[in-house]
Amino acid sequence: MLLAIETSCDETSVALFNSSKYLNEDHSLKDSILDHIIYSQIKMHQAYGGVVPELAAREHMITLPSLCSKILEDNKIGFSDLSSVSVTTGPGLKGCLLVGLSMAKGLATARGIKLTQVNHLEAHVLSFLLEKEHVEFPVLVLLVSGGHTELVLVNNIGEYDVLARTTDDAAGEAFDKIGVLLGMPYPGGRLLSESARMVQEESEISYPLGVKTEMDKFSFSGLKTSVYRDIENRGGSAVVSKDSELVSRISHAAEKAIVLSLVDKLTHWVQLKKPKTLSVVGGVAANSELRSRVEKLGLDLGIEVVIPGHEYCTDNAAMIGATSLLRQKYNVKDSNLEITARARWPISEIS
Ligand code: KG4
Ligand code: ZN
Repeated sequence: MLLAIETSCDETSVALFNSSKYLNEDHSLKDSILDHIIYSQIKMHQAYGGVVPELAAREHMITLPSLCSKILEDNKIGFSDLSSVSVTTGPGLKGCLLVGLSMAKGLATARGIKLTQVNHLEAHVLSFLLEKEHVEFPVLVLLVSGGHTELVLVNNIGEYDVLARTTDDAAGEAFDKIGVLLGMPYPGGRLLSESARMVQEESEISYPLGVKTEMDKFSFSGLKTSVYRDIENRGGSAVVSKDSELVSRISHAAEKAIVLSLVDKLTHWVQLKKPKTLSVVGGVAANSELRSRVEKLGLDLGIEVVIPGHEYCTDNAAMIGATSLLRQKYNVKDSNLEITARARWPISEIS
């Protein structure tokens, strides 16, 4: 039995795997999951308009021990049945990472079992394997969440080429910051997208797509400033947010700019690298406009598109356990000898 722990930001999550089912009996990763719990702290952070690192760490400290006990009790598994524990050690909020790592180290030391550290970005990137395991490589993965925007070519498990990344805000962060300007509660991505769906025909509002010429860079800060200026010219946030029809038109234009800037670069790299499979992972993969454009791209070029279900897109421990098992199955060694919490840990360092 493997217990996986994720506490890098504002979700406390644990997952329990029957690892021998996956490693020795040829079951799929998904079928080897016995249970999975995700506890979101988002309500607590909403009052502050974003994640407060100190509060997040304290909340993990309160929640994590009870989630670990619950998942074991619910599945009638004792601590003595665990054979290994896997934990996210970066990148993320250091105080939050330390809570998960301390719990994992404690368990591993007390039970004398194996402890493995998992890179959060690698786990997001490989999360499409929880949706479908037998896909053709290389796989081009667009990772878009509230904290990350990276385009990664997965040549194999443990072999990654980062083709593009954001120079400023992450895609989800751009959705959320524009949501705040439109008077939406944090995180505004989903609400903004729902509001954009109310627009039936093309409106006259349009915003710039960020850096167009440099294919290895995404940028969303210019878009945020354009939307801010536009809203100021229309009387400011307080006035605009009361006009739901205008909010929808601005949301529609902002969503289009974010999605097109992602899909433009994705298209460029698909043509250049000719991957066999395409995937979108991370919280922003829930965006219906992005999903349908990527699905269309795959259809047009005859490339399979695999997008994981929402449970595996948001921060979750199942992708942490899955990454640990995949590295074990494909014999990919951890090059970081020291198990420690890392606020920064680029995926290029583990490839
Ligand atoms: O991966 P995730 O759950 O958490 C982390 O960032 O770690 O991603 C959350 C992000 C937020 O920025 C949220 O606004 C965005 O995903 N998001 C969306 C949608 N649903 C969630 N953005 C656009 N459209 C959506 N439907
Ligand atoms: Zn994440």
